[in-house]
Amino acid sequence: MTAAPRHRALILGAAGQVAPFLAARLAASGYEGVTVSRRPPPEPPLSPAFVWHTFDLTGDLPWPGAWVDGACLFSSVPLWLVPRHIGILASQGLRQVVAFSSTSVYTKAHSRSAKDRQVAERLRQAEADLVSACDASGLPYTILRPTLIYGSGRDGNVSAILRFIKRFGFFPIVRPGTGLRQPVHADDLADAAVACLATDKAHGRGFNLPGGETLTYRQMVERLCTFARCRSRIVDVPSGLVTLLSAMTPPGSRLRKLCTLMLRMNEDLAFDVTLAARDLQYRPRRFLADASQDMSGRMAP
Ligand SMILES: NC(=O)c1ccc[n+]([C@@H]2O[C@H](COP(=O)([O-])OP(=O)(O)OC[C@H]3O[C@@H](n4cnc5c(N)ncnc54)[C@H](OP(=O)(O)O)[C@@H]3O)[C@@H](O)[C@H]2O)c1
Repeated sequence: MTAAPRHRALILGAAGQVAPFLAARLAASGYEGVTVSRRPPPEPPLSPAFVWHTFDLTGDLPWPGAWVDGACLFSSVPLWLVPRHIGILASQGLRQVVAFSSTSVYTKAHSRSAKDRQVAERLRQAEADLVSACDASGLPYTILRPTLIYGSGRDGNVSAILRFIKRFGFFPIVRPGTGLRQPVHADDLADAAVACLATDKAHGRGFNLPGGETLTYRQMVERLCTFARCRSRIVDVPSGLVTLLSAMTPPGSRLRKLCTLMLRMNEDLAFDVTLAARDLQYRPRRFLADASQDMSGRMAP
């Protein structure tokens, strides 16, 4: 008896937060293929169903047909790296594109930091370029915009807060610390990406993908303090002090960046899940639903 033919996928950003969960979900759904990263392959491998290729996406790869023909592309790299490859990928037989952007395209557009505004503009342009390139090649595409990602144990947000708490036993919050956050587990993003393969409702669309719980910044830190078994020692910092410090420090300096980051603790970065829930059956988990596994980066057995 011959084995059923497997479906093909091409994953960009193999060393990122979402790719391991994506590769596992795709392999479980009968997919195999190729993953791309600038790094050498890890040991143990990401997934036996995916062959790891080391490649910098700022370069030009001929994208061999054997990787691409009939494949779906999943991009979890910074979106601006992707559009320039779409034409050649389409000519080699690519079937569909599912690409991660970010809700930063909205939240950073009016930031007080010029660098943040540049990121938002870069993402906005990348989304427009991806749409043009896919339309020109007749490829169905979906753009997915996560909020704050955690769950791999390697993120620079939630894990960084946890490391700080563990190291110093407290965490500073700019009063009142009521900006809304919706941390999203990397595996829920992988689930949404795979769901795009199963429905035409995903085609030609963009979806915001928040996590399953909306928390204030303070609540998010309190939850991490509880997990770290650190008696919730949040140190309140007056916002006027941070604003003053920010104004006194040179633009681009580390202190200015830290002040910008801290002042954002009182900004709402929250998004509506309705469209993704309706069209992708997106049901993200609550924050730290399985805290020790979520913060270790281990995958569910
Ligand atoms: N982190 C967040 O909270 C967040 C929030 C919203 C949206 N997103 C988006 O969600 C996706 C996944 O997030 P993430 O935090 O895992 O992403 P990331 O750390 O920004 O990047 C993911 C991967 O992109 C690869 N990459 C970067 N430049 C590359 C290049 N020139 N050539 C080849 N690979 C390159 C990196 O691989 P190597 O360095 O190993 O080569 C990295 O592993 C990304 O599209 C990101 O923009 C992230």
